[in-house]
Amino acid sequence: MIILSIESSCDDTSVALVKADEGTFEILAEKTASQIEVHKKYGGVVPEIAGRCHAENILPLIDEVLTNQPKPDVIAVTSGPGLITGLMVGVEAAKTLSYLWNVPVVSVNHIEGHIHSVELQDTRDKIQTNTKYPISNIQYPALALIASGGHTELILMNKQGQYERIGATKDDAAGECFDKVAKLLGFDYPGGPKISKFAETGNPNAIKFPRPMLKENNLDFSFAGLKTSALYWLRDNTLPLGKGEREGVDQRLSTSPTPPFQGGEISVADFCASFEQAIIDVLVGKTLKAIEKYQPKTVILGGGVAANKKLRETLIEEVKNASPVSYVLCPTSGYAMDNAAMIAIAGYYHATKNNFTPWQKLTANPNWEISDNITI
Ligand code: KG4
Ligand code: ZN
Repeated sequence: MIILSIESSCDDTSVALVKADEGTFEILAEKTASQIEVHKKYGGVVPEIAGRCHAENILPLIDEVLTNQPKPDVIAVTSGPGLITGLMVGVEAAKTLSYLWNVPVVSVNHIEGHIHSVELQDTRDKIQTNTKYPISNIQYPALALIASGGHTELILMNKQGQYERIGATKDDAAGECFDKVAKLLGFDYPGGPKISKFAETGNPNAIKFPRPMLKENNLDFSFAGLKTSALYWLRDNTLPLGKGEREGVDQRLSTSPTPPFQGGEISVADFCASFEQAIIDVLVGKTLKAIEKYQPKTVILGGGVAANKKLRETLIEEVKNASPVSYVLCPTSGYAMDNAAMIAIAGYYHATKNNFTPWQKLTANPNWEISDNITI
């Protein structure tokens, strides 16, 4: 089966052609147009601009991906959740191609794509085409922690295609919290990777940031308070930042009282390491609670924040200690961030069950919750 997949739910327009055959997935071609440079100057994704960029990029990308390749048997497209301005571009492109080629369409939930991104993992850390990945390396019941710029969710799957959201953030997503605090430090969007880079050489115990909701007896998250703690710390202390970075912090704190600079021993790396550790402790702590309760055979870590090396290492280590029945699957880091290949893989499972949506009925749903739907 050859699947053409389209992802346009946020700030990446991504198209892939994936062959599912003889027990493996093979990425025949893939192209992604990132909008990071466009959104950088606004400090975050601007939906109106994102929609326009997706509309400009989608057809050239599809054309490039299909050059010298076989015609697809199936089209898989992200229909939600995400920005409506982006989703509509991908969905309308999929509908048009379905109509023209008479090829069936699968509607894929973006979170479901991140869950299946772990089927794109091997020992290498690079994206390569023509690499074969084994189909169905997930054993059920499985538990997924999906942490990205828009989502922080724990999802239980008792079998393939059955999703129950057992925990979610009450306010900011983990990636959003990384990005907002990075902005306070004067780092460009998206700031998560920059914080984790600085954190590598810092002391994670230098600042005692709160671990919101960690002790509460539920599987939900909250990161808005942690962001505020980081803001207050920066207001009340000083970091030895570079000239441009200091200006960035001062500008963003201009509504707060003048910082009583205390000097001190704490470096930017220490701040980043302490902040990152607080997020990791909460994400891992809640996942361990869920493991205890549901005893999954596989633990999946997906979403852009899954690119964080320390989060991966900590989760793998803690799961090993906590629950011998579980093992952890993470995507090859190039596939942690939004990409179309993961949408093809999630789409494959629907296609094998003839779970197609006639193009006339296909719509974008920006609020599509994974539990709402898709038992196949
Ligand atoms: O999944 P994704 O590409 O887009 C959404 O669906 O939101 O995730 C992007 C998010 C951003 O918030 C980005 O800062 C975060 O993933 N991210 C990281 C790292 N790499 C990306 N956060 C922490 N550490 C990283 N290394
Ligand atoms: Zn995503």
